[in-house]
Amino acid sequence: MLYKKIKHIAIVGTGVIGSSWATLFLEKGLRVTATDIAAGAEQKLRNQIFQNAPNLSQELLTFEESLEEAVKNVQFVQENGSEQTDLKQELFRKLDSCTPPDVLLVSSSSGIIPSLLQTGTSYPERILLGHPFNPPHLIPLVEVCGGEHTSDEAVERTIEFYRSVGKKPIRLKKEIKGHVANRLQAALRQEAFYLVQQGVASAEDIDMAITEGPGLRWALPGPFVNLHLGGGSGGARHFLNHLGPAIQSWIKDLVRVTMNKDLIVMLSDEVGKMVQKKNLTA
Ligand SMILES: NC(=O)c1ccc[n+]([C@@H]2O[C@H](COP(=O)([O-])OP(=O)(O)OC[C@H]3O[C@@H](n4cnc5c(N)ncnc54)[C@H](O)[C@@H]3O)[C@@H](O)[C@H]2O)c1
Repeated sequence: MLYKKIKHIAIVGTGVIGSSWATLFLEKGLRVTATDIAAGAEQKLRNQIFQNAPNLSQELLTFEESLEEAVKNVQFVQENGSEQTDLKQELFRKLDSCTPPDVLLVSSSSGIIPSLLQTGTSYPERILLGHPFNPPHLIPLVEVCGGEHTSDEAVERTIEFYRSVGKKPIRLKKEIKGHVANRLQAALRQEAFYLVQQGVASAEDIDMAITEGPGLRWALPGPFVNLHLGGGSGGARHFLNHLGPAIQSWIKDLVRVTMNKDLIVMLSDEVGKMVQKKNLTA
């Protein structure tokens, strides 16, 4: 399939993520047509874009009540509807039936694997995941992943398009629940929760253990370049030979926490105390 040059995008669902994508695409001079089922969505979207970028012209933005109208003449659809599998499946079946097969249909879903979005569609090869990190107009990462029936070409074209608007896409070679970045965050959060639960340190100190420590380092090299740098002239091999056994013993010591009511109450109380002390508002 020859995908056309992407000049006009449909934003389906204009909440937190949709409005931020719309901001980014408008900033890049692309035409955007948005749609949402909620009452008053157009004004809310325009207000949010204004908040995101007060000097940005909204001339290239149009809003359509009907999904069919919104996707007319676009080359790319960025879907940002509610995170519910059955609702998204219905939405993708509709999108699939009202767009020609050379229109890329890309979902922002945080956790639904793209194969599930291909169910019951006629042209599943152009359906895939483009999961941003909130807010997409500021945070560069986007995770791109095809489903069982997605063509390589659709994945490559989507990556190329995201790069062209300044995003930093990564390609997932297979589908996995939570994709990559949210799984990494989940691993870290689990241990942060466990350490608070066990009374090892306060939430405030655990935050500092990231913001004043590894967080500073991770902002530049990721965990793998870190392995290389940490090993001196011996690189990652030396690092792993030297500290690998200790890391292995810490990994063995990790315990899974259960997100039950008690844990939620305990964590929110702890965080509540901290934000009050720091005088932070949401
Ligand atoms: N919020 C985040 O941090 C975040 C980050 C990355 C990805 N995501 C994903 O982005 C998607 C949207 O999340 P959000 O946080 O923007 O949610 P949100 O609730 O702010 O917005 C969802 C919007 O979709 C609209 N909608 C629902 N069904 C629709 C339909 N059939 N057609 C048109 N519009 C419809 C709703 O009216 C609402 O305005 C989800 O799939 C979510 O997993 C969210």
